Amino acid sequence: MKFDVFTLFPEVLAPYLQASIMQRARERELLEVNLHNIRDWTTDKHHVTDDTPYGGGGGMVMKPEPIFAAVEGVLGAPPSCPVILLTPQGETLTQKKAKSLAENDHLALIAGRYEGVDERVRQHLVTEEISIGDYVLTGGELPALVLMDTLTRLIPGVLGDPLAAEKDSHATGLLEHPHYTRPAEFQGWGVPEILRSGHHARIARWRREQALRRTWQRRPEMLEELDLSEEDRAFLGNLEGARGG
Ligand code: ADE
Repeated sequence: MKFDVFTLFPEVLAPYLQASIMQRARERELLEVNLHNIRDWTTDKHHVTDDTPYGGGGGMVMKPEPIFAAVEGVLGAPPSCPVILLTPQGETLTQKKAKSLAENDHLALIAGRYEGVDERVRQHLVTEEISIGDYVLTGGELPALVLMDTLTRLIPGVLGDPLAAEKDSHATGLLEHPHYTRPAEFQGWGVPEILRSGHHARIARWRREQALRRTWQRRPEMLEELDLSEEDRAFLGNLEGARGG
């Protein structure tokens, strides 16, 4: 999968891409990320990328010309792939949305700064707007990294365990069950006996129930979307009963 990222701060993104799974994915050519500094496409002496808003008010707005020049300069006019603007006004990123975006083999990302970008960028260049949640950051750089990280995990072969991405919280529609590793006892706290029993079927059932319980406690609305087995329903019924009684 290939990303072209347009930003005023490429140096913010670079270190993250040079570590851990993103770095390994790039080395194995499963992932390619090209960072482009929008400022490089300015044509004025002072390399200005923002200006005051028409109509007054505070804050600065990113000018359209350098953004169009950068994106069309790299990807052609019209661009050869979807162009995503990271903005708090966009569609909220979910695992489902990530799965559908991961079907693209090439995406352009625009990380906005200041108060926002000139509306003509949204209307005539951007094909999709994505938010990473209902809070406001100082710019779209971290959201661009969040989006790329999330999509990278979904590229076949990137994760060591080929089934890992399918077992994730949110991919299954349930929050994940608890995980334990050695030592069997740490500061007097043990590991649930069942996990050391070697009974694979019972362990699978225990994990399923822990995932159901955790989701029921923390994110009950997620359960409404799920196809649950009779056994799952009975387990949740017991939890409800215990709470009621
Ligand atoms: N830019 C600033 N805040 C953002 C958010 N929550 N999501 C995406 N881009 C943003």
